[in-house]
Amino acid sequence: MTAPAASARRLVFLGPPGAGKGTQAAIVAAELGVPHLSTGDMLRAAVREGTELGKAADAHMRAGGLVPDALVLEILGERLRKPDAATGFVLDGFPRNLAQAKELARRSPLDAVLWFELPRPVLVERLTGRRVCPTCGTVYNVTSRPPRVEGRCDREGAALDQRPDDRPDAVGVRLRVYAEQTAPLLEHYRSAGLLRPLDAAGSPGDVTERLRRLLAAPPARRASQGL
Ligand code: AP5
Repeated sequence: MTAPAASARRLVFLGPPGAGKGTQAAIVAAELGVPHLSTGDMLRAAVREGTELGKAADAHMRAGGLVPDALVLEILGERLRKPDAATGFVLDGFPRNLAQAKELARRSPLDAVLWFELPRPVLVERLTGRRVCPTCGTVYNVTSRPPRVEGRCDREGAALDQRPDDRPDAVGVRLRVYAEQTAPLLEHYRSAGLLRPLDAAGSPGDVTERLRRLLAAPPARRASQGL
C-alpha cells in the first residue's frame, strides 16, 4: 500500500455526481490529517438547521441545480479560514464552475485536482441506490454497500433516507448541470498542470488504492495558478 505524498495536501476532488468523491475524500482526508470540506454537506447542514442560507439553498438543491455562488462562497470561505485548513484540505464538490475556481485560486494555492471518471449508467445506478442515515450520516448503497437489515442503519437502527436530489428527475438535471458548468473546469485545471485523471470504476477499495498511487506520483509540471 502506498501512502499519499506529504507534499500533496491541498486537493480538489472533481467529477460528476455519484462518482465517489465523498466516499474517497473522507478516506484520503483522514489519511493526510486534513479536513474534508464538502460544500454539499455544508449546505445540507444549513438546510437541516433552517438558517437563512439553508432556506435560500434548499430549492436549488432539491431541483438538482447549483446554489448561487455567493451563498456557497459564504459558507466555504468561513470554513477555509479555520486554522485546521491552513496547510491542507480535501475539497469535495467545490469548485463547480469557473467563477468558483477563480475565487478559490485567489484564496489558496492547490497541489492537485483529482478528476473522477465514470460512465453515466454507473453514476445513475450509484446515485439512485444511495441511502443515508438521518441520525449519523452514514452513506449506504442498495447495490454496493447495503445495510445489514434492509432500509435500516447498521449503527443507529434508524430508517434510511433517500436524498431528494437522488430521485431520478433531479439526477438527470445534476448530470446536465455537471456537463454544462463543471466539466469545462477540466481543461482549466489541465492547462494549469494540476489535473490528475482517476478511473473511479470498481470497488471503493480499488479506487482508494489508485488514488493513493496518483497522490504519491510527482506532479506532471508546476504551472502558474493565477488562473
Ligand atoms: P454534493 O453533495 O456535492 O453532490 P455531488 O457532487 O452531486 O456528489 P454526490 O454526493 O452525489 O456524489 P459523490 O461523487 O460524492 O459520490 P459518493 O461518494 O457520495 O452537492 C449536492 C448539491 O449541493 C448540488 O447539486 C448543488 O445543488 C449543491 N452544491 C454543492 N456544492 C456546490 C457548489 N460548489 N456550488 C453550487 N452548488 C453546490 O457516492 C455515491 C454513492 O455511490 C453512495 O451510495 C456510495 O456508497 C456509492 N459508491 C461510492 N463509491 C463507490 C464504488 N467505488 N463502487 C460502488 N459504489 C460506490
